Amino acid sequence: MISPLENQHLEHARHLLYDQAMVCFRGEPIGTVAAIPQKKWVMDNHHPHMVPPPDLNYGEVFIRDNVLSMIYFLLDGRADIVKNFLNACLQLQSWDPRTRGIFPTSFYVESDKLIADYGQRAIGRVVSVDATLWWPILVHMYVQKTQDWDWVYQESVQTGLKNMLGLIVQPSFREIPTLHVPDGSFMIDRPLDVWGSPLEVQVLLYGALLSAAHLLMQGDPSIPEAVDRAIRLRRYLHKHYWLNRRMVQTLRRRPTDQYGDDVVNEYNIRTETIPHWLQAWLGTQGGFLIGNIRTSRPDFRFFTLGNCLAAIFDILTQPQQRSLFNLILHNQKDLIGEMPLRICHPPLDDTDWQNKTGFDPKNRPWCYHNAGHWPCLLPFLIMAVLRHQHRFLDLRYTQTYLPMQELLKKAYQLQMSRLPEQKWAEYFDGPTGVWMGQQARLYQTWTVAGLLLVHHFLIQSPSDSRILDLAPLHKLWQGNRKP
Ligand code: GLC
Repeated sequence: MISPLENQHLEHARHLLYDQAMVCFRGEPIGTVAAIPQKKWVMDNHHPHMVPPPDLNYGEVFIRDNVLSMIYFLLDGRADIVKNFLNACLQLQSWDPRTRGIFPTSFYVESDKLIADYGQRAIGRVVSVDATLWWPILVHMYVQKTQDWDWVYQESVQTGLKNMLGLIVQPSFREIPTLHVPDGSFMIDRPLDVWGSPLEVQVLLYGALLSAAHLLMQGDPSIPEAVDRAIRLRRYLHKHYWLNRRMVQTLRRRPTDQYGDDVVNEYNIRTETIPHWLQAWLGTQGGFLIGNIRTSRPDFRFFTLGNCLAAIFDILTQPQQRSLFNLILHNQKDLIGEMPLRICHPPLDDTDWQNKTGFDPKNRPWCYHNAGHWPCLLPFLIMAVLRHQHRFLDLRYTQTYLPMQELLKKAYQLQMSRLPEQKWAEYFDGPTGVWMGQQARLYQTWTVAGLLLVHHFLIQSPSDSRILDLAPLHKLWQGNRKP
């Protein structure tokens, strides 16, 4: 049962999403802006002393920000908007020989044209790798729900998928299956020492590969390559990124500085690089995929979105997923706090913050990307957990799932009681996320869509939490890809 006030908040959220955030192109809705422009909400501001931050590029349609909007539209019976969005992105996929296949970070409508930003207007001029990887995943989601295979088999969509794969499946200087990217090439789009092979990009790569393999026409020569890459990637993530108490013991006692073919410590990780906070954080039952692997400099930070997506895409085995949920339960004070969920843990501090972010004031410890709290992340955790609803009453797992269900309900209540009142802020600061982010946009669309989805999954229709499920790897491998 939801209260009349909750109902009112949800209705308001739907109004914001459909009537204020929506962008139209040639009369058709094609996506949502990152944040509702201030002129639209300033009149209704109950806090006249609050200075609205400048809009910058938040009036644009970001591919990553639209993931939650698109999931919501699809579940709300508006597959037409999702298709328009996917077509608009496809129209903007690069054909330049130097960047063929990449999708833009964001775009906007100018008169009768779509104008795209491929990173040339972003801070640091970095292209968003995640946008390119999200597109096939969203296409897959759309087709699973609508069965609109005629659209997918159109030449333009098939070419879009192949061009996307062309960026990935090609010779390179490294034979490992991960994608090497610059700092800030995904949701964390400012320097935060997330260059190399950050988890979120690798997990999205896996999702993109499997989605493309499922969507390409049977017999397409790119399919075996995509599936093979996904298999190698999953194995690689298990081997080099998965961490639990036992793995730490192993890592700490391995030889270093080995040469030759039979090396056990391939990345030459020294005991001193393994941070002590892991001891309490992992507890006895916890496990997670670490943030990054690089020679002698692994990144042991916990990144929420990468881990949740790894569960949703079944990169993690079932026992690993339970270890991840146990870890989240064990550290709920850190990860949930007063505003679920924290984006990563722990923050870069002191000289690390100075050297690795370039003294970035927006990314001070406990702020913004540097361990701030982002409400838009909660639906991903909910999807990861509720996919296992059928296991909730299995006695072997109740110790994980029942407390997890409680935690999610608590998280929903927290968001419901704070977000409408705090004007749907983009992010929250401080060790518990109690403060509205110092430079947070207000009326941020993925905050709005996020709360609508949290309500949808938890209260309305938990079975929809499988919406991002991929085709099982073994099916693709056997070539059994019948639509
Ligand atoms: C910030 C976020 C980025 C998001 C953008 C628009 O730059 O870091 O992830 O896409 O705002 O909301």
